Amino acid sequence: MQSSENKTVFSGVQPTGSLHIGNYLGAIKNFVDLQDNYECIYCIVDLHAITVWQDPRTLKNNIVEVAAAYLASGLDPNKVTIFVQSTVSAHSELAWIFNCVSRMGWLNRMTQFKEKSGKNRENASAGLYVYPNLMASDILLYKAGYVPVGDDQKQHLEITRDIAKKFNNDFSAHGGDKFFPIPKPLILPVASRVMSLRDGTKKMSKSDNSSMSRINLLDDNDLIRKKISKAKTDPLPLPNSQEDLRQRPEAANLINIFSSLSGIKKEEIIVKYSGKQFSEFKSDLSDVMIRELSPIRDELIRLKKDKIFIEKVLNEGRAKAEERALKVIKEVREIIGLW
Ligand code: AMP
Ligand code: TRP
Repeated sequence: MQSSENKTVFSGVQPTGSLHIGNYLGAIKNFVDLQDNYECIYCIVDLHAITVWQDPRTLKNNIVEVAAAYLASGLDPNKVTIFVQSTVSAHSELAWIFNCVSRMGWLNRMTQFKEKSGKNRENASAGLYVYPNLMASDILLYKAGYVPVGDDQKQHLEITRDIAKKFNNDFSAHGGDKFFPIPKPLILPVASRVMSLRDGTKKMSKSDNSSMSRINLLDDNDLIRKKISKAKTDPLPLPNSQEDLRQRPEAANLINIFSSLSGIKKEEIIVKYSGKQFSEFKSDLSDVMIRELSPIRDELIRLKKDKIFIEKVLNEGRAKAEERALKVIKEVREIIGLW
């Protein structure tokens, strides 16, 4: 990452269910690592959540839970801006404008839409289809330079870059030249794609029917041990080299998770456990996981109950975010020639 020009970091998490270690290792942990050196804005993207129907009461609770998870993971509201997307209406406004900049052909290529809409595409919401335009609006409304996300969001970052370039180009003669920066994804190599504990070829996901497929941030220590001990593996002992992991997705995933949680390099883990049985490795993995996650879980449970504090953080965050957003949206209106 270059230190000079753009120090604004933006990212978001959907309040759509229990957060899991994929969200933590792929995204939230990195949010925390960036907070001392960047100007970070972290959003709870409730407008993205409703692209698929959400029970209203559950949605509200999930918003509080994501805010609590941000804080419990170590985000400091004095250093970063934490807010709820729908409370800054400029997100929706810029998203509409981007609906008019973005191209159908670009949206048609989005794999997330294809996966989420499944076989019943005719019945998917129009919001799910234009989801990437709203995400581009989140990022560009703050003229962010960097976006820490898991690997599954790479394509959405590409369309964001395309939208920024097209806007700048379409309005270059009207003050749009170089108006939006071209944001870069920050995807860390180790845990950018945490896989299901039941199937090492599938992404760990909030929406997987099997709760054994994921470790939730709220799981207690016994449940963590149980899920890890039941995690799918192959019958071979642990490998001798990274090469041996190629055809062994479950083993590769568990080693990745171990490395990301402990900060120990994969090579070192492989040397330590090479030729050993999974039972010993899994027991150590559970220990590491419990050591890292239990303080976060305990704090998360405590904070979830402290609604007054969460509301204070979100209100202050909203005020800071809105101040920035209003300036940019005003300029955008001017550039486009809106009344
Ligand atoms: P979402 O819950 O879809 O809003 O995701 C929030 C963040 O977690 C995004 O940056 C995702 O890329 C990231 N994420 C979600 N699932 C995983 C996973 N299995 N592995 C790594 N990152 C993930
Ligand atoms: N689409 C992201 C996800 O599903 C969430 C998101 C919405 C986001 N807006 C964003 C991530 C802006 C980064 C920046 O995980």
